[in-house]
Amino acid sequence: MSQHDSTDGPGGGVLIVDFGAQYCQLIARRVRELGVYSRITVPERAMFTLQHMRPAAVILSGGPRSVYEHDAPALDPAILRQGVPVLGICYGLQWLAQHTGGEVTPAQSGAEYGRTQLEVVDAEGLLAGVRDGGIVWMSHGDKVARLGPGFVVLAKSAPCPFAVVADRARGFYGMQFHPEVAHTEDGARMLANFVLGVARCRADWNPGNIVDAKVAAVRDLVGEHGEVVLGLSGGVDSSVAAVLIHRAIGARLHCVFVDNGLLRAGEREGVEALFRDHYHMDLEVVDASERFLGELRGVADPEQKRKVIGRIFVEVFRDKARQKRGARFLGQGTLYPDVIESVAAHGGATSTIKSHHNVGGLPADLDMTLVEPLRDLFKDEVRAIGRQLGLPSALVDRQPFPGPGLAVRCLGEVTRDKLAPLRAADRIVREEIEQRGLHRNLWQYFAVHVPQKSVGVKGDARVYEDVCVLRLVSSQDAMTADWELLPVDVLKRIGSRILNEVKGYSRVCLDISSKPPATIEWE
Ligand code: XMP
Repeated sequence: MSQHDSTDGPGGGVLIVDFGAQYCQLIARRVRELGVYSRITVPERAMFTLQHMRPAAVILSGGPRSVYEHDAPALDPAILRQGVPVLGICYGLQWLAQHTGGEVTPAQSGAEYGRTQLEVVDAEGLLAGVRDGGIVWMSHGDKVARLGPGFVVLAKSAPCPFAVVADRARGFYGMQFHPEVAHTEDGARMLANFVLGVARCRADWNPGNIVDAKVAAVRDLVGEHGEVVLGLSGGVDSSVAAVLIHRAIGARLHCVFVDNGLLRAGEREGVEALFRDHYHMDLEVVDASERFLGELRGVADPEQKRKVIGRIFVEVFRDKARQKRGARFLGQGTLYPDVIESVAAHGGATSTIKSHHNVGGLPADLDMTLVEPLRDLFKDEVRAIGRQLGLPSALVDRQPFPGPGLAVRCLGEVTRDKLAPLRAADRIVREEIEQRGLHRNLWQYFAVHVPQKSVGVKGDARVYEDVCVLRLVSSQDAMTADWELLPVDVLKRIGSRILNEVKGYSRVCLDISSKPPATIEWE
């Protein structure tokens, strides 16, 4: 039994079929926010998953294709004969229309993108409480030209006579716009009406309440004598996974923390204090900083740096795991977004912007069984579990820190000479922001080392030193981000402390780039 199967559970919840939508994960999150379990699957596996999961409702997502294309995603129409209510969104509506006797054609005016006003025709059920004239967000190239028998119109919009449709008798519903995006007013209400009202899903999903079930599942999987090795990074995911697994099997969990020489000030000590001294876990700290920094010598290309770091991490971790004799299990803090069977994840036309390295980067030849208690959870749910487990807020709510560490904030070749001032400046940034509680409004806040000399004057002497950049961003999910400002007196204090206390900078600058087109990290 894999950890994932354990959530197939007693039935209920919402199965989301991913037709390649940009917003598929958002639909899953919105459903979970209603207190209802949701799971995403690809069209090809939808019937199989449905039989295992026995959901109370199905949502068909949007997607980039046209239903009349010969290689459009193949969903077995038998899904419409399971007696389960179905909501089609955008492409999902078009698929539904096509398989219930309707007709889909290219939108006459070409693709329709952006905001439009909804004219509610029938406010019963699905659109109960939804305001007439509210804004909805469209993004589609095709549209339904004719509905099949049994369907009625619940709402329309100027460009779209079939904005919301229903065949109530059969439990089929469709929306041409996206209720899951924040720009759609009352979108959350529409989803709630479908999930809780039409489909009568039980709102019994609460990540904080599943700790006991997770602990029991780990015990089941690992057995009475099994030993688990886990790579602890000190980030939220691996920390929560460690505490959960530790609760299940105690001293049979062996944590390995790799110091790659690219950590922030105080990081290693913090992990030791919490996990070894407070939780009394078996924690081994491997100081591999010489090796990482040695192999990074002369490497200036960002992608190359990431590859070197990822490779060494796997090598160091694999050697340690092998030394933990008898351990047949590998613990990881893998999250749901990493494992979703999504169209985008399987051969979608997404381009690599940066090759991400995670501590979990799995050594394939380790031949160990995975223990991944968080693999059906989103980040905010993992935080809820962390709180439930009593982890301190400083850890549960901490800002993300990338696997390659300070290397992606230290432009060009990484050297100890550059890391030292960066570390000191970053500590000042964190201190000044956190002691005022300003971090609650920020997704990430850190310093970047730009090895570009500029002239300054310190005391009476001319200096010629590097640039320190302040990066402050807000974000929901790191996919997009906005730059943020701090009160001027705080900015002044940060600037003056860095210039006065840190040797190596003659200038502090503020990054005012949003993502896109910039990224959050500098490399
Ligand atoms: P970018 O720079 O791509 O970063 O806008 C988006 C988010 O991902 C984090 N990040 C990483 N996290 N391994 C990680 O675990 C990585 O290799 C990595 N690179 C970037 C970054 O801090 C931001 O939150």
